[in-house]
This record gives sequence, structure tokens and C-alpha cells, in this order.
Amino acid sequence: MAKMRLDKLLSNMGIGTRKEVKKYIKDGLAEVNKETVLDPSKIVDTEKDEVLFDGEKIEYKEFIYLMMNKPQGVVSATEDKFEETVIDLLSEEIALRKVFPVGRLDKDTEGLLIITNDGELAHKLLSPKKKVVKKYYAEILGKITTEDVKKFKEGIILEDGYKTMPAELEIIESSEISKVYISIIEGKYHQIKRMFDALGKKVLYLKRVSMGNLVLDENLQPGEWRELTEEEVNLLKNSI
Ligand code: URA
Repeated sequence: MAKMRLDKLLSNMGIGTRKEVKKYIKDGLAEVNKETVLDPSKIVDTEKDEVLFDGEKIEYKEFIYLMMNKPQGVVSATEDKFEETVIDLLSEEIALRKVFPVGRLDKDTEGLLIITNDGELAHKLLSPKKKVVKKYYAEILGKITTEDVKKFKEGIILEDGYKTMPAELEIIESSEISKVYISIIEGKYHQIKRMFDALGKKVLYLKRVSMGNLVLDENLQPGEWRELTEEEVNLLKNSI
């Protein structure tokens, strides 16, 4: 969309709420093609016009893509009455851009969470039809056997009777607390925990390590996030 109101553009770029931005414009803080514009409803061309706010050039980007290493203890939602959400961990400037998490990780699950305002991409990444692989690292109480690997591959019948699609279970270490990778292409509620429950085993720790071709940046500590590079956005888009 190349044409939009000046106040909408500045608000979309995280300058402030629509109301705040209208005031800033009336205060003379916005320039279009080197002229101060006092009318918030002025239509600008996001591809051609040069927009400055408080002297700084505003590069219009319709979509924003972030990766977060979700920490335990926060919920994967945009709002919650009682709990801290992943959106609460972002800067105000980013949160103003109406971003949301792509799918949910449980409150006690860590790891890769993509946060964006690109609804179409989010929808495709989550659609089972697209078979985007979500890979997790998990620690499980008790030994994991090749029989378990076979059951994951065949699909597991959960407690409600649903049979999961074939999933890959890779054993890193089988002992009192086993370490494994699990790759699934669906995202049913508590899916991995329920798959292990069905085998009489308990997940002690769960972390998502990749989604499609996009791998969690291990330099991000739990709770940290950053924008995806252009290359990473392409990796994601090439996963669907
Ligand atoms: N499966 C689960 O059980 N929990 C998650 O957070 C993700 C997958």
C-alpha cells in the first residue's frame, strides 16, 4: 500500500498512538519532502515521499519480523489480564506496531517465537497443510527407547482420541533424565507434552529451537529479542 495518511504512517512506524501523532504533527514535528506539514490527514506516498519526524528520516516498512527467545513464565498472547505477555517484553515502539506472536508456546516453554504484524505469513506458518517443521529440544523423565521413536513416527493417539501426524523423535541421550529433539508439523494444544503423556512419560523442560528453516539465535538469552535480518525473513518465507 503506497498511499496513506501521514498520521497513520507515523503511528504504524511506532512514533506513537494515532492521537499522540496527530498532536506531534500539529506541533510541527513532521516534514514531507522538506516542508513542514501540519495536517495529520495529508496523504503521502510511502514509496516516493521523503518523510521526516523530528528531523529524522522515517523509512516505511509495512511489516516487521522479530525473533524472541521466549522465557519461561510469560504467556504467548498480546494481552492478558493477569499474566505478563511476550508483547510486554518488547519496546513500546515495536508494540505500537500491532505485532503478535506466531502461534503459542506454553507458559513454561522456552525458545523460538516469531513475532510479526504480517498476518498472512503467520497464517501460512501455522497451517498444517504447509507442513512447516517445528523442532524442539526436550528433557524427559526416564529413559527413551527406540520403541518411543517408532511410536512418534507412526503418530500417537492422545488422551482425547486424536492421532497425531508422524513426528520425529531423535534421542540425544537416554538416561534418568533423557535429552531428545522432537520435530512436529502440527501445533495442537500442549502437543508435545500430551504425546509423551500418552507414552506414560513426563516432559521436564521444553524449548523450541527452529521453525521451518529459521533457527533460534543462541546468542539471545531468554527474554531477549531482535529483528530478523532480511536473509532470515527470506528463510522463513521459503519454508512455506
Ligand atoms: N508442545 C507443548 O506441549 N508445549 C509447547 O509449548 C509447544 C509444543
